[in-house]
Amino acid sequence: MKNYWLKRISYLLSKNQLLSTIKSHKNSKFKEEPKKIIPEVSIESITDESDPKIAEAEHKNGNVSYTELQYISKIVKFYQPSTIFEIGTFDGRTTLNMALNAPKAKIFTLDLPKQEIAKTKFRVKTGDLEFINKNQSGVRFIGTDEGKRITQIYADSAQFNYAEFENKMDLVFIDGSHTYDYVISDTMTAMKLLRHKKGVIIWHDYGWYEVIKALNEFYTEGGIYAEMKNIEGTSLAFLKIN
Ligand SMILES: C[S@@+](CC[C@H](N)C(=O)[O-])C[C@H]1O[C@@H](n2cnc3c(N)ncnc32)[C@H](O)[C@@H]1O
Repeated sequence: MKNYWLKRISYLLSKNQLLSTIKSHKNSKFKEEPKKIIPEVSIESITDESDPKIAEAEHKNGNVSYTELQYISKIVKFYQPSTIFEIGTFDGRTTLNMALNAPKAKIFTLDLPKQEIAKTKFRVKTGDLEFINKNQSGVRFIGTDEGKRITQIYADSAQFNYAEFENKMDLVFIDGSHTYDYVISDTMTAMKLLRHKKGVIIWHDYGWYEVIKALNEFYTEGGIYAEMKNIEGTSLAFLKIN
């Protein structure tokens, strides 16, 4: 990824943002490890006992775990959203399974094109780079029946203009870039996407330090965020707004 850093530095220099970026990166270093504070609940307490359909079970590095895939699919099956927006397509394993379990839903999934890897609004984590740097997003659903209901969008989640999707989504799944700034930005986006500010938001990787820090802040803020839950045995955070 040597090339990435060269491209990133020259991009930030061209925007006159190199110094401010280095400063904000330094400030984001953790003085101490953030602790998970969002209360845990069992999957059964937010869904039912029935099993979801699962396709493409094989786990690849970058995917949610098999248990997480089952739980996301269970949530989708239980709530039957008409519209779903996903941030972070990767190979489309989660996208495909959400489509499979909400057979009438329209699904929109956004992914950063690898050509834009160095031009993101905020810093991305080194751990995210290998999942961005791929030839094709959504390979698991392309060419399937479910794929006909899935629309792919290619953009930086913090720079995309969501106007045509706002106030139209019933469920948003966030698993894009895992830096603090992205988790904050993607969560604010999810709130705008939800229809009449109601519906379900699921976050992945409540376990990565920066994700913990950002989600703890929302939870501590209270109001609607006070209902956030961490699903037992997983790194999924869940919020249902009625
Ligand atoms: C960990 S993967 C998602 C895995 C997926 N949920 C699954 O279970 O297969 C993260 C994805 O987010 C995308 N991504 C990273 N930063 C992004 C950004 N700033 N905007 C949009 N997508 C981004 C990456 O390209 C990658 O495909």
